[in-house]
Parts: sequence; structure tokens; C-alpha cells
Amino acid sequence: MFLRNYWYVAASDTEIGRKPLARTILGEPVVLFRSEAGAPVAFEDRCPHRHLPLSMGKLFGDVLQCHYHGLRFAADGRCVRIPGQEHIPHGAKVRTFPVVERYHWVWIWMGDPALADPAKITDFHWFDDPNWGAKSSYLHVEANWQLIVDNLLDLTHLAFVHDTTIGNLALAEHAKVNVTRAPNNVVMTRWIIDQEPPPTFKKVGGFTGNVDRWQIIDFTPPAFLRLDVGATPTGTGAPEGRRAGGIGMRNLNAITPETETTAHYFWGQAHDFDVNNAEMTNRIFQQIRTAFAEDVAVFTAQQKNLNIFSDPPQVDINADAGALAARRILKRLYDEEQAARQVAAE
Ligand code: FES
Ligand SMILES: [Fe+2]
Repeated sequence: MFLRNYWYVAASDTEIGRKPLARTILGEPVVLFRSEAGAPVAFEDRCPHRHLPLSMGKLFGDVLQCHYHGLRFAADGRCVRIPGQEHIPHGAKVRTFPVVERYHWVWIWMGDPALADPAKITDFHWFDDPNWGAKSSYLHVEANWQLIVDNLLDLTHLAFVHDTTIGNLALAEHAKVNVTRAPNNVVMTRWIIDQEPPPTFKKVGGFTGNVDRWQIIDFTPPAFLRLDVGATPTGTGAPEGRRAGGIGMRNLNAITPETETTAHYFWGQAHDFDVNNAEMTNRIFQQIRTAFAEDVAVFTAQQKNLNIFSDPPQVDINADAGALAARRILKRLYDEEQAARQVAAE
């Protein structure tokens, strides 16, 4: 199940250069490269002549030459040269995709190009904001993209999967939880009051006593999860909005389906304390990276079972509230897109 009329992260800005990059997105092969002026370009990774991936070709200026018979394609997808012949047939063009570079990511629109408004790109300004330190990264995940959405909307798993870094049992046992649902948004707020901080918070926040900890998870479709997380020494007023004296972070996630059983997982961590301390940024990043490797092991193992058993889960628990709300939104949006495609095709 893929939603098409959305901006997705295709790659980090540093991945795309003058060497064509092949990447499958929503099950479709895409090739990405930069023009000589540095503008990102995305083509379907399939030559209209005999289907060779254009990512096997090379760039001549802003023109990509197919590796097989040397047809050349300009940045707008039109064929501009066929070796040994003057006439360029009308159908000699490759499909292009709208791309926009923002927040150190290159975004792609795989749906109807007429709807590709860059104003709809989800806000990840923390990666550019001087008031925050931040570092981002990428994971390839051998699992369906919705398993990652589920995971980030149910943070009780931190108690079990991440007990050496960002989790402890207090998260699962003592959280006050509130779920707010809107037509295209789920916000899950969790407060863990007067509990021992987890190992990562002790390491980067220097807490010695108990803390009041918050986790505010904001989900927008198809798969953007922006987590406002942090803690202050207990009793200093964080639930009432006084966050001074503690640590605040954003865990930022943009998931792009690769296939039905694999995903591109772009993520990063921003922090609002010690913002110009690269060593701190890196220390936080390493903690989260350790935790996310633990998540990837979980997703992969879940997907292996899903490949064998096609029946739905046999039980839901209270902690699933946010994930179930997100799945309902995604199913509705998918049904709406399919209905619109049907109408357009008639
Ligand atoms: S397959 Fe690309 S030029 Fe023939
Ligand atoms: Fe996790």
C-alpha cells in the first residue's frame, strides 16, 4: 500500500552528485543526479529504448547518456540525441519526477506532477535552525514502512528494546498518555513524572535525581514522525511548560517506502542544549543510532513473520492507540487516492 501524492525524502543531499544514483521508491526505479549547476534531477530509471537502467549511464554536462545504445536525455526527460540518426521520435523521452532540496534532504514527488506543491513538504527546519544542534542519517530497513510508523507511535517499546539507552521500565508502567486525533494528524503525548531518567538522559543531561519526562509524538501522513522529547528535574514545572534546566530534543523521522517489504528510513536527532558543541551532537546521535539499530532488528524479524503469516494481529493493547489511529488515516487516504485514480481513468 503506497500513497503517491505526497513528498517523500529520496536521498540525503550528500548522496546525490554527478554520479547517477539508483534508488527504488514506492516500488519504482528512480535515478537521481545533479545538474552542473547543482540542481537535483530525478528520472525513471529505465531507458525508453530497451529498458536499461539509466543509472548505468553517465553524464555529459546536464545530459544523461544511456549505457546501452547511447541515447541522451536532457534534464526535462526529452531525448536530445540518438547516435547515427537525425530524427528523434516523439516517444523518446523518459519520465521525470519533481524534486526539491530542503533540510539537507532531496524530496521527490512520485504522484501526479500537477499536484506537486513544494509548500506541502513537511517541516523539518530543526536541521537548519541555529538554535538547534542536529545530525541526520539513513537506515535501509528490510520491512514494510508501516511497521516503522507503528514503532514510533508506541514508545512503550523503549522499556524493552532500548533499556541500555533511551528506555526504562517507567516508560511502559508509569506514563500518562493522551492521544489527539485530527483528520490527517495524530499526536500522542506521554508524560512520565518523577521517575529515574534512562541511561542516555543521564549521559547527555547530567541528571542525578528523578525527572519529569515528556514524549510528544506528531504523526503526519504518509510517514513523518516528529518527536518532541526531553526531561527536567522533577517538580520544576515541565508539564506546565517550564522546560528550563532540562534537556529538549527532537527525534525526526521521514520514512519512504522502497517496496512493500523494504523501506528507506531517514532520521535525525536535534537538541536544544549545548547546540554548538559538535561532540555533544555526536554523543546524542550515537545513542539514538544504537537504539535505532535495535529497532531495525525488530522490524526485520516482524517482517519475516509477516512474510509467512498473512493474518492480522490477534490482539491490540492500550499502547496501540496512536498506531491504530495512524493506520486508519493511512487506509482512508489510500482508499481516497485509489478512488480518485479510478475516476481519472474512466
Ligand atoms: S536501452 Fe538505452 S539506448 Fe538502448
Ligand atoms: Fe525504538
